[in-house]
Amino acid sequence: MKKVFLIGGAGFIGSRLSKLLVDAGYEVVIYDAFVNFIDPFVSDYQDMLRWRFREHRGQVIMERGDIRYQRHLARALEKHQPHIVVHFAATASAKESSLYPEEAAAINSDGLVNTLEALRALEHPERFVFTSSSFIYGNFQYAPADENHPQNPFDIYGASKLSGELLTKTYCAELGIPYTIIRPTAVYGFGDINQRVSQIMIENAFHRRPIILHGGGVSKIDFTYVDDTAQGFFLALTKPEGANETFNIARGEGRAIREYAEIVKQYFPNVELKYEEADMTRPERGALDITKARNMLGFAPKYSLEDGIKKYIEDYKAFCQ
Ligand SMILES: NC(=O)c1ccc[n+]([C@@H]2O[C@H](COP(=O)([O-])OP(=O)(O)OC[C@H]3O[C@@H](n4cnc5c(N)ncnc54)[C@H](O)[C@@H]3O)[C@@H](O)[C@H]2O)c1
Repeated sequence: MKKVFLIGGAGFIGSRLSKLLVDAGYEVVIYDAFVNFIDPFVSDYQDMLRWRFREHRGQVIMERGDIRYQRHLARALEKHQPHIVVHFAATASAKESSLYPEEAAAINSDGLVNTLEALRALEHPERFVFTSSSFIYGNFQYAPADENHPQNPFDIYGASKLSGELLTKTYCAELGIPYTIIRPTAVYGFGDINQRVSQIMIENAFHRRPIILHGGGVSKIDFTYVDDTAQGFFLALTKPEGANETFNIARGEGRAIREYAEIVKQYFPNVELKYEEADMTRPERGALDITKARNMLGFAPKYSLEDGIKKYIEDYKAFCQ
């Protein structure tokens, strides 16, 4: 049985991937510091953690560990000897990374080097997967943006992801381990606690607060339902075609933030949409081109934005009951 080691695997995306892997018969080890970067009076971290693993908690091995402590990580890899290592651990929010740049550098950059160094402890490594981001592109110069789009990140989060890609390729070449780089974007669904725009809009609607739209809400984002993102990871890491390749994993459609708000409003007709000034700290993005993942991996995202928001609201309501 193949063993997969998910670093940061207790998070929003990693937990969904772990369920897919368990269901497909993989042995899964989750190595995670179980940290919450958001105000604890705002986030329901413990509840979300239980919800993410409600169906498969007993089927994964959980190891608490922090990638800032290299020797502990190396010992864990030495003990478990996984075939595949997937690296999710990061200060996963661009906003928090800018507010806490030293922490972002320590985890996203130094922590990644610690992980790559620790791969030397593996006896039969078959793949290392690094989770990058569409933030490496900076402001999109064209959309849909393919994997060769110019890379001009303008914040520490995007810069840490771009340097992470280079470190991944360099180390994997030296160690002789095939790599895969995934660039997800705007992942949404119940279970996220990082206060992304998709989560804030739905929570505001649930709590009868207005939904704030910056700059008219016209900025386009490639909102991707979390199960589709997890499916993209699953295909990329299990298929031989994923080796030594970089993939955009997204829905493949640019939708205005206002469209997202309007779909939410269909479920909460009384919610007010309020317009405020544009947020200049975010890159201007749009659709990602997912042709490469479609052709090489057979990636086919299932959830339209309408279907994904419906599922998000259903899960939220079921959780509250
Ligand atoms: N969610 C998105 O929209 C999105 C988009 C693009 C890229 N990404 C990237 O995908 C990855 C996963 O994102 P997510 O949304 O699941 O975030 P998340 O915050 O839910 O998950 C990150 C996990 O990493 C763990 N972690 C953080 N610091 C750690 C450390 N020092 N040592 C060990 N574990 C640590 C956290 O406890 C958490 O479980 C991240 O690298 C993120 O940058 C996410």
